[in-house]
Amino acid sequence: MPRAMADLARNPPNDRESFPSRPMRIIHLSDIHVWHWPTHPAQLFNKRLIGLTSLLTGRARRFPQARLGSLVARVASLNADHLLITGDFTTTALPSEFATIRHALEPAISSAGQLTVVPGNHDRYTSQSVKDRLFERTFGEFLPSPTFPWVKRLDPETVILGLDPCRPHATATGFLPRQQLEQAQALLAQQPHKRTIIACHYPVDAPPSLAKQLHHKRILKAPPLIHWLSGLGPHLYCCGHLHKTWAFYSTRIPGQLSLNPGAPLMVDHRHPSNPGFLEIHLNQHAIHVDHHGWDGLGWQITRLIENPQFFTA
Ligand SMILES: [Fe+2]
Ligand SMILES: [Fe+2]
Repeated sequence: MPRAMADLARNPPNDRESFPSRPMRIIHLSDIHVWHWPTHPAQLFNKRLIGLTSLLTGRARRFPQARLGSLVARVASLNADHLLITGDFTTTALPSEFATIRHALEPAISSAGQLTVVPGNHDRYTSQSVKDRLFERTFGEFLPSPTFPWVKRLDPETVILGLDPCRPHATATGFLPRQQLEQAQALLAQQPHKRTIIACHYPVDAPPSLAKQLHHKRILKAPPLIHWLSGLGPHLYCCGHLHKTWAFYSTRIPGQLSLNPGAPLMVDHRHPSNPGFLEIHLNQHAIHVDHHGWDGLGWQITRLIENPQFFTA
């Protein structure tokens, strides 16, 4: 008997608690931050001057690009069912940065069954990059819709909602227009599902030790979004932006398991950690999340969270 039919036979569709899908593995990456020096003077007459100053004052050192190939090779070797990348592919949204990351990711994209992407604020760094739709032109084939929000179905039980609060702005704060939130609510309500994943570059909560950092990088006027998420039931909130690795249950937003892989190429001498990515295992109601971290010599796998009943309503 084919596997899908065998699964259905074991879990008849009229059993509301059943999950006929097979187990799923999702690789969650974020904040790769490819960077290039601008080559044309016209590329400097905008906010990119700030980004260039940031590069000169440390970002180039903190984001060495040499490990990009081995990072992608590691992801490709895992042959996940799905690859989710939650933004900040680039640093100053240069066309050449987009071209480089798209090309570099190819082995990981081909090895995974599917790719889902949302932009980060650095992918919307300048008004021109937004006007030219550089993010959409780079990853358009993987976007379910040319505009945000959208919902992508991964299997009969699992959907990803993509949000985009990113904008070119003098600060690192984001803003989710009311219309985008209302459309997200309507889209999700139309899609029957048992497992909800929100993909959004900006966290809506962070571990207490990072609350101050989040305040400077928060979504402005977020209470309506937080209020809606608080009534959503069990959901994964996959984000990035703070360049810190975490997997924690939000106390502010009931039902939310917040996941942040951190920045996989970042070297932070003040707060040494093993940069890497997350591997999310879903099996019926159960979830466990592993972190793959590079310690300078090899990849270390650490179990961050395990919950056999997370998706039980
Ligand atoms: Fe970032
Ligand atoms: Fe960011």
